[in-house]
Amino acid sequence: MSYLRENIERMEGYSPGFQPKGEGWVKLNTNENPFPPSPKVIEALRQAVDGRIRLYPDPLADKVRERVGRLYGVDKECVIVGNGCDDVLAIAARAFLGEGHVLLMTRPTYTLYRVLGQIQRAKVLEIPLNEDFTLPEALFSQKAQLTFISNPNPPSGVLYNKRDMERLCVETGGVVVIDEAYADFADRNCLDLVRKYDNVLITRSLSKHMALAGLRVGFGIASDDVIRGMMKVRDSYNVNCLSQVGAAAALDDSGYYLQKVREIRRERGILTEELQRLGWKVLPSQANFVFAFPAKLHASEMYEELFRRRILVRYFDTPETRDGLRITIGSPEENRRLLEAVGAITGGR
Ligand SMILES: Cc1ncc(COP(=O)(O)O)c(C=O)c1O
Repeated sequence: MSYLRENIERMEGYSPGFQPKGEGWVKLNTNENPFPPSPKVIEALRQAVDGRIRLYPDPLADKVRERVGRLYGVDKECVIVGNGCDDVLAIAARAFLGEGHVLLMTRPTYTLYRVLGQIQRAKVLEIPLNEDFTLPEALFSQKAQLTFISNPNPPSGVLYNKRDMERLCVETGGVVVIDEAYADFADRNCLDLVRKYDNVLITRSLSKHMALAGLRVGFGIASDDVIRGMMKVRDSYNVNCLSQVGAAAALDDSGYYLQKVREIRRERGILTEELQRLGWKVLPSQANFVFAFPAKLHASEMYEELFRRRILVRYFDTPETRDGLRITIGSPEENRRLLEAVGAITGGR
């Protein structure tokens, strides 16, 4: 006999990318940043490790909220901080999605959205993207209490146009979460929609462009009403004290990260061109990864061959994604090793 709620028994749960033990891997499977965080973050963390961890952290993470407010030109009352962007997404699901409500999302996208909908016993409506991974017209005729849309969207890296995002905000009739975990690598973002519409929540992550995946910090920006509601349903101390210190220091050093983002964008261009030269099809990405269709081998075989050479990329075995691989943009050296391995694998074929 199972003691689980029926919907929890039935659902699959989120399956994160493989985290290898041991050294020697080229790890291009979970969209981490290949560069270290700002030295100022490391120093601030060192200074913060002492007896003060006896105390609970600031429940509101106000130092982080103030910095986000300053950086993005919004009032701190319009900011919520989470234990990663994932936490902010979960808080949104808890606050806006009840049993029998509709959760609208695309397929493919970040698979956590489905899990969050299933936990709430919502009706999860997954609208297939067009073949080129752009938004389908069918998406805009749906009504939903909550919409999760990632922009740029994984695993394609495709950035949707602003007009379409605005249409979603106007037409779905509920809260629209524009998950901008990767927006810092893109040419534009939707932050201005928060000022225009009171049903929009923008979520961001410090895991990707600020190289702090291990600290687990993300935040959301929305109208003060939306944020006030979300504050009621988060864990009271959802961001630990060291994470708050590290996040504040990172947000204070945005110049350092701008430079690193520039390097990652440059590497994205180089990797795209080099894979294309080897005969791969690569989707136009605005994120810190590319989705690419291998030449000569099926994507699943290429994944295995790369794995044997201790190069990790991500393979999603679903009808929409099983012909491609999602490859995180690594350091110049890591990207070179990937390209060399691809050349060696396909050279004799
Ligand atoms: C679209 C999207 N949103 C959110 C996240 C999670 O971000 P965080 O590490 O801040 O929880 C990811 C992580 O892969 C993601 O792909």
